[in-house]
Amino acid sequence: MKASVLTQFGPPEVLQLREVVQPTPKDNEVLVRVHASSVNFGDLMARDFKAVCPGRFNMPWLFWLIAKLTFGPDQPRVAILGCELAGEIEAVGKDVTLFKVGERVFGFTGQSFGAYAEYLCLPEDGVLAAMPANMSFEEAAVVPYGALMAFNLLRKVNLQPGQKVLVNGASGAIGSAAVQIAQHLGAQVTGVCATPRLGYVRSLGAGQVIDYTRQDFTQNGERYDLIFDILGKASYARCKDSLTPRGVLLYASFKTKQLAQMLWTSRSGGPRVVCALAPGSRADLLAIKELIEAGSLRPILDRSYPLAQAAEAHRYVESGEKRGSVAITIAAA
Ligand SMILES: NC(=O)c1ccc[n+]([C@@H]2O[C@H](COP(=O)([O-])OP(=O)(O)OC[C@H]3O[C@@H](n4cnc5c(N)ncnc54)[C@H](OP(=O)(O)O)[C@@H]3O)[C@@H](O)[C@H]2O)c1
Repeated sequence: MKASVLTQFGPPEVLQLREVVQPTPKDNEVLVRVHASSVNFGDLMARDFKAVCPGRFNMPWLFWLIAKLTFGPDQPRVAILGCELAGEIEAVGKDVTLFKVGERVFGFTGQSFGAYAEYLCLPEDGVLAAMPANMSFEEAAVVPYGALMAFNLLRKVNLQPGQKVLVNGASGAIGSAAVQIAQHLGAQVTGVCATPRLGYVRSLGAGQVIDYTRQDFTQNGERYDLIFDILGKASYARCKDSLTPRGVLLYASFKTKQLAQMLWTSRSGGPRVVCALAPGSRADLLAIKELIEAGSLRPILDRSYPLAQAAEAHRYVESGEKRGSVAITIAAA
């Protein structure tokens, strides 16, 4: 089968189309004919992980070490990137009961990656579900990562209708899903992003948008019940006066300092810091499918690239020009 192979760590050109051995499903696995994958934060990070030192990594040092062991110290251990996919079940192992051959599915492989390939094996109880109706493979392939992370992290703070939420990093994969899910939960949402993406974040349903290159949201006099900071750019010291008395500063990216702040603020009686990890689950993916089918969550596809141009797709995402998600079309390779 054809796959875009990570030949070494480095710039986008290290992704090269190669012929590799097609996997065979084990008894509990399905073989997916992958039609589309995506380019997201994890793919960019894994592609050049040799250059990522602990200081540049958005998580505590121990997480960096685990990532280093996963991705490899000098040469990539993950040969095929792509952690989101949409496709069709091509074959099933003898113990599989949840999926049938021919069924359209979408899913998330996490740090196993592997979706920049024509075929991929996944355990049937992995993060895989029937694809939402009325959606292209490309649209379905850009949903799982951002939606799973946003859905899981927002659940940790028990958001209530009418509450005021600010999403810092609203134009990215997690942020754009968070804007829509918070809106669906009845919150009043403000999205923070850079100038070129203000219109995009507005189109996601954010009632207000703030351009972080021109305005510091912590100086606008507003108070929020939740500040959801995707990249860990906003410190507690800056945000605490922008939070309601028991408001939450929720970090998707955090270091040891924010973990200590979480411990300390949990006892202080004032605004709290919450740092959390969001494991993807099949149950959450099924809930996301329902949100999509109800019209409460929609992916906005900026553009798609064929598998043979995976390097161009990475280059485009790294250019900072994208407005929405970027898919990789695999059937057309
Ligand atoms: N907690 C977990 O379990 C978990 C799981 C996965 C990932 N993560 C973390 O999530 C992060 C990646 O999130 P993502 O995939 O959504 O990333 P992404 O798609 O790259 O989006 C990040 C967004 O942040 C915005 N941004 C950049 N600088 C900013 C600033 N100074 N102020 C406000 N916004 C800014 C960018 O907006 P503009 O382009 O408009 O500038 C960009 O759209 C990583 O740090 C990763 O460690 C956490």
